[in-house]
This record gives sequence, structure tokens and C-alpha cells, in this order.
Amino acid sequence: MLEILDNMKVTAIVLAAGKGSRMKSDTPKQFLELDDKPILYYSLKAFEKSDVDEIVVVTIPSMEGYIKEEIIEKYSVGKVKTVVAGSVARYLSVYNGLLSASESDYVLIHDSARPFISVSKINEIIEQAMLKKAIIPGIKVKDTIKQVSTDGIVSCTPDRNLLIAVQTPQAFDYDMLKRGYDKIDKSKVDETITDDSCVWERYVKEPVYVIEGEETNIKITTPEDLLFGERIMKRLQEKRV
Ligand code: CTP
Ligand code: MG
Repeated sequence: MLEILDNMKVTAIVLAAGKGSRMKSDTPKQFLELDDKPILYYSLKAFEKSDVDEIVVVTIPSMEGYIKEEIIEKYSVGKVKTVVAGSVARYLSVYNGLLSASESDYVLIHDSARPFISVSKINEIIEQAMLKKAIIPGIKVKDTIKQVSTDGIVSCTPDRNLLIAVQTPQAFDYDMLKRGYDKIDKSKVDETITDDSCVWERYVKEPVYVIEGEETNIKITTPEDLLFGERIMKRLQEKRV
């Protein structure tokens, strides 16, 4: 970590409060197992090994006991200080996490559905956030992306060279992001807030800097992603030992 900023407190908020409706499984996807461990385990372990100081897990209230016993205690994830309840939309779950991380200088917000994030990428994101305040990892899109109107007719084809697919963790100056989140009208759900940099763009209105993401840092969303996940896991196990 940058030595001059050594005394800064960095918190990771790991989101595990979703229902996983696209996975079509009774068990929310973050608790499905990959190589005999729940998906949530992998990102917690990565943050545990990283330069992050503390971890806040945001989850479904009925799963708090399971997370504490079957993940945190069982695998000694000592940096998890708090497990809090999530909410009905991702960004509202994030807000609950932010309220539990009030002593932080920097915050990293991560989807537990992305189990393959590397420790080195987390550390790079922290370092860059300390320099630039808002950092997101992104990768070039491979497909051509079309904008389509509600009647299913293509309205335009954005230049692919200007597009990236955005991943997590996204990292921010805590106070600035919290002030942005405070400004959101929380009386209704805004379906257009799909990541945290979106809140930064709209309410903080400062630049968001992109760094190279990882092709292996996929989000497990559908049953097919579990198959890709198993292959990625094998690949990484071979590479990272
Ligand atoms: N998440 C959350 N609280 C919510 C919704 C999502 O903490 N109300 C978390 C999920 O647990 C996941 C991450 O945000 O780790 C990314 O969301 P997504 O992949 O969309 O997961 P789900 O919302 O659970 O899945 P789906 O959209 O298919 O229902
Ligand atoms: Mg979702």
C-alpha cells in the first residue's frame, strides 16, 4: 500500500443480500457451492488476504447465522467485523453497508456473486482509489452492443471502442460516496441504479476512473455461469498455486 496513506482505514462491503432470481435455484446463488465451498466464501477470502482492513457483509437476515458459523468461523475470516441485513435493491443493500462502515476512509463495494476476484487486483484498486477517489474495473466488450427501444427495434449502435463491461469491486472515498448515497430519494426503488459508480456520477458529480478488470472476474448470474465458474476455478487453482 502507498506508505504515506498507511493510516487510512479501508473497508470492503461484500453484498450477499440478493435473491438470485436469474439463477432459478431455491438457494440464493451466493450460497451455492463451487468446489465444496459457498460462492460467498471466495470473495471473503480474497479480501481477507488483501490490504483491506475490515469487511462488512450485507446479507439476508435468515442467513446471518450460517455465514458466521459456516464461513467466517469455519474458514477464519477474521476481518469480517459486521454482518448486516440488506434491502430490496442492490443499491439499498449498499446503503446499509455504508451505514455500518462509518469510520472508513475508503470503501470497496463488491458483489459476492463474483468469487474470482484476485488479491492483487483488490490491492491495485485500493491504491488507485487513494490517488483518484473513484475507481472501477472494466473490460472491453467483445459483442457489438445495440441500444433497443421498448418495441424491440434497434435505435442505435454505440461505438464498441467506447464501451466497457464494468465489474466489482468498485472503490471510493467513503465520505464523498456516503454523501452521494444520502441524496438518493429512498422512498421508491430506482431501477436505473445498477452499480455504485452510477451514484457517484449522478450525485457526487466527480470523475470515475477506469482500470483494467479481470476476464476471470465474472458474475455468476445464470446456471450456465456455474459451469464457466467451475472451469475458471480449475484454471486459477493451477495458476495461483
Ligand atoms: N444484492 C444485494 N441486495 C439486493 C440485490 C443484490 O446484496 N437487494 C447483491 C447480490 O447478492 C449479488 C450482487 O448484489 O452478490 C449483484 O447482484 P445480482 O448479480 O443482480 O444478484 P441478484 O440480485 O441476487 O440476482 P438476480 O438479479 O438474478 O435476482
Ligand atoms: Mg439483481
